[in-house]
Amino acid sequence: MPVITNIEDLRRIYERRTPRMFYDYAESGSWTEQTFRENTSDFRHIRLKQRVAVDMSGRSTRTTMIGEDVAMPVALAPVGLTGMQCADGEIKAARAAEAFGVPFTLSTMSICSIEDVAAHTKNPFWFQVYTLKDDDFMRRLFERAHAANCSAIVITVDLQLLGQRHRDLKNGLSAPPKLTVKSIANMMTKVPWGLEMLGTKRRFFGNIVGHAKGVTDPSSLSTWTAEAFDPALDWKRIAQFKEWWGGKVIIKGIMEPEDARRAAEIGADAIIVSNHGGRQLDGAVSSIRMLPAILDAVGDKVEVHLDSGIRSGQDVLKAVALGAKGTYIGRAFTYGLGAMGEKGVTKALEIIHKELDVTMGLCGETDVNRLGAHNLYVPQGFGDPTVLL
Ligand SMILES: Cc1cc2nc3c(=O)[nH]c(=O)nc-3n(C[C@H](O)[C@H](O)[C@H](O)COP(=O)(O)O)c2cc1C
Repeated sequence: MPVITNIEDLRRIYERRTPRMFYDYAESGSWTEQTFRENTSDFRHIRLKQRVAVDMSGRSTRTTMIGEDVAMPVALAPVGLTGMQCADGEIKAARAAEAFGVPFTLSTMSICSIEDVAAHTKNPFWFQVYTLKDDDFMRRLFERAHAANCSAIVITVDLQLLGQRHRDLKNGLSAPPKLTVKSIANMMTKVPWGLEMLGTKRRFFGNIVGHAKGVTDPSSLSTWTAEAFDPALDWKRIAQFKEWWGGKVIIKGIMEPEDARRAAEIGADAIIVSNHGGRQLDGAVSSIRMLPAILDAVGDKVEVHLDSGIRSGQDVLKAVALGAKGTYIGRAFTYGLGAMGEKGVTKALEIIHKELDVTMGLCGETDVNRLGAHNLYVPQGFGDPTVLL
C-alpha cells in the first residue's frame, strides 16, 4: 500500500482503479477547461503570513455552517454519479462525512436514492436540487427530502443549460455504462471496480428512474438535462422552490454580486460562490477571485460559502480567511472514494483537516473562527477580475 500524504496521491490511485468514462467525467471542465484550471491555480496567488513564538497549542477547526456544528468548515459538495465512481458511492461518502462531522450533500443526479442514503446514515444530510420544469417532480423531491429528514436543500442555479464537456460525449457517458467495445475493453482492466459494481443493485439514477416522466433515456445525463431542466429559470421560480421546501436553503452557483443580492433578497440561508468546478461557463473567473466582491455585496446579509478548486487545507484556510463561512470539496472527496471507497473519503477529509490545522498553527492561529485578512498576503487586484495577475 503506498503512503498517501495528499489529495494528489488519491487522484492517482483513483485514475488507475476507475473506468475511463467516470474518471474523465470528474476530471474535466467544460470546453477549453480554462476555468477548471484557474480554480486551482488562482489559490496559489494568495500567500500566508508565517508567525513564530506565539502559542499554537490547543487548536480547533470547529465552527458552524448554516447553524450546524461542523468539525471543520468543509462540506462534501453534491457530485452526480458518485455511485458509479465506486459501488454504493453516495452511501459510503455520506457515512464517511457523518463519522468525520462534516455535512454531506446528496446530488439529484445520484445513483443511490435519497431514501437509500437516509436508511444508511443517522444524521440529517443536505439534498441538492436542480431546477427542473416538472412541478410535480420538484414537489415530490421536496417531500422525499423532508421524509428523509434532510436539514437543508441546496438549489443549484448555474445549470439551466449543460456546459459541454468534450470527453463525456466522446466516451458516451451513461449510468449504467453502455456496453461498447471501447467501454468493455476499458472496464476489463478495472476488475475490483467491476466486481463491486456487480455486487450492488444501485446502478441507475436512483432519484429519477421510476420518478420522472417524459425522459426518453434516463441513463443519459445529457438527454435528461436537455429534456427536463428549465432554461427559463428566474428568481421568482427559485423563490417558489424555497417556499415549497419551507426549510433552510443554500443557493449554489453564484458568481456575480448582483446575483448574490438577489439570492439574499429571497432569504437564502447561505449562498455558494461556485462555477460548478469549471464544468459550466468556461471562461468564467475562478470562484476564489470572485469571493471578495461577493462578500462586499452581501457578506452582512447571508452566509457566504465557496467551492471550486479546493484541493488542500491551505486552500480552505485561504477561503475562510478571506471571509467564507464554509467551503465544499467535490473532486477531492471523489478521488478518495474512487481510490479506496469509504476509507478513501475519510482519508481525503483527514488530509484536508490536518493541512488546515497545521497551517492554521503556523500562521499563529488556534481557532478557525479567528482567521481573517490579517493572515494573508493578497495581491493587489486579486478581487478585481479585470486585473491580470
Ligand atoms: C463529477 C462531478 C459531478 C458533479 N455533479 C454535480 C451535481 O450533480 N450537482 C451540483 O450542484 N454540482 C455538481 N458538481 C459540482 C460540485 O458540486 C462542486 O461545485 C465542484 O465539484 C467544486 O469544485 P471542485 O471539484 O474543484 O471541488 C459536480 C462536480 C463534479 C466534479
